[in-house]
Amino acid sequence: MQTKLAKEMGLKTPLFAFARSKEVVVEVSRAGGCGVLGAIAHTPEALEEDLKWIDAHIDGRPYGVDTVMPMSYAGKGEMPDPEKLRAMISPAHHEYVAHLLEKYGVGELPDDYERVGDDLLGWSVERGMAHLEVALNHPVALIANALGTPPPEAIEQAHKAGVRMAALCGKTKQALAHKAAGVDIIIAQGWEAGGHTGEIAGMILCPEIVDAVGDTPVLMAGGIGSGRQMAAALALGAQGAWTGSIWLTTEEHRAYHHATVVDKLLAAQSKDTVRSRCVSGKPARMLVTEWTKAWDKDPNCPGTLPIPLQWMVQAEAVERIIVHGNVPLMGTPVGQIVGRMNKVRTCRDVVESMAAECATVTDRLASYRG
Ligand SMILES: Cc1cc2nc3c(=O)[nH]c(=O)nc-3n(C[C@H](O)[C@H](O)[C@H](O)COP(=O)(O)O)c2cc1C
Repeated sequence: MQTKLAKEMGLKTPLFAFARSKEVVVEVSRAGGCGVLGAIAHTPEALEEDLKWIDAHIDGRPYGVDTVMPMSYAGKGEMPDPEKLRAMISPAHHEYVAHLLEKYGVGELPDDYERVGDDLLGWSVERGMAHLEVALNHPVALIANALGTPPPEAIEQAHKAGVRMAALCGKTKQALAHKAAGVDIIIAQGWEAGGHTGEIAGMILCPEIVDAVGDTPVLMAGGIGSGRQMAAALALGAQGAWTGSIWLTTEEHRAYHHATVVDKLLAAQSKDTVRSRCVSGKPARMLVTEWTKAWDKDPNCPGTLPIPLQWMVQAEAVERIIVHGNVPLMGTPVGQIVGRMNKVRTCRDVVESMAAECATVTDRLASYRG
């Protein structure tokens, strides 16, 4: 099952897999799709390490790296300065986080505990450009950017290195801005998707964007976890499927989540997600938890902050929640496809069964013509 873009990129299946797990990236690419490593939680040094590991294990198959250079965020235009940014967070927000931790009985971090997380995360042009520079020193086939049109210097550097630049969007207007800036692949992210989403369902958004951007290839994102859904993406005019949630319950992803989160994902139904601003300050789809309910519904909540402040106010709290295995508060971004993620599978099984089902479905559709 191939499309023009898949052929050009040397893929066996037009299936792209966003993941923060280097193991998922390698296994998806080795199985014929295109793994894309999410760099947001990596320092440039950690990204370099992961990409070296990927290069050593991926058998020369194509893969990509995902950066997050948002259009708008607090402190835009200067190198992110944690102290300066921290000063922008009101005491009410710190107090609210402390209140939630106390309410749900979350203990302090142990004295000998070393923080693993990054309070700032990679969502700034400066951090994104640093990720890009690291990535372009590796044999990447693709750079994707979330939350805005990549800056001109990013597109220029990718093109100079002969690498395709992709960008996510949730509206046709954003797709046209991406195209005008020179983005090579538009990722149309429907509202059912995990992570940051807009308000338009994929069924509507994908063909609208395909028609608007002409010969620029489009990948459909949001709610794709089976070959039938991949075939639907192709039927809507996409040249491939861009996926994220489905990999969270794979064998290769296990190390990246607390066992409780995996259990919650396996048990969740498609109704158990919410679009909430509580993690980043921008609407993103995630599992419903007591944490999301508090930020979204509690009349005493002080409201959410812009990127990156909303994450900064809770980064340590999230580590405390994980260290103490707090079941009511633990969650993850995930899309509505979570309702079909009912058992742990290998990445190869997911890729191969999606490719096989997509081929069967397209044959079935062809047979309807008599
Ligand atoms: C846990 C998680 C984290 C995500 N983080 C990012 C990110 O850092 N950058 C990005 O471009 N997309 C991110 N996304 C969105 C995915 O790239 C993808 O567009 C989305 O998952 C597709 O919809 P689906 O979840 O229904 O497959 C994330 C998705 C999930 C589930």
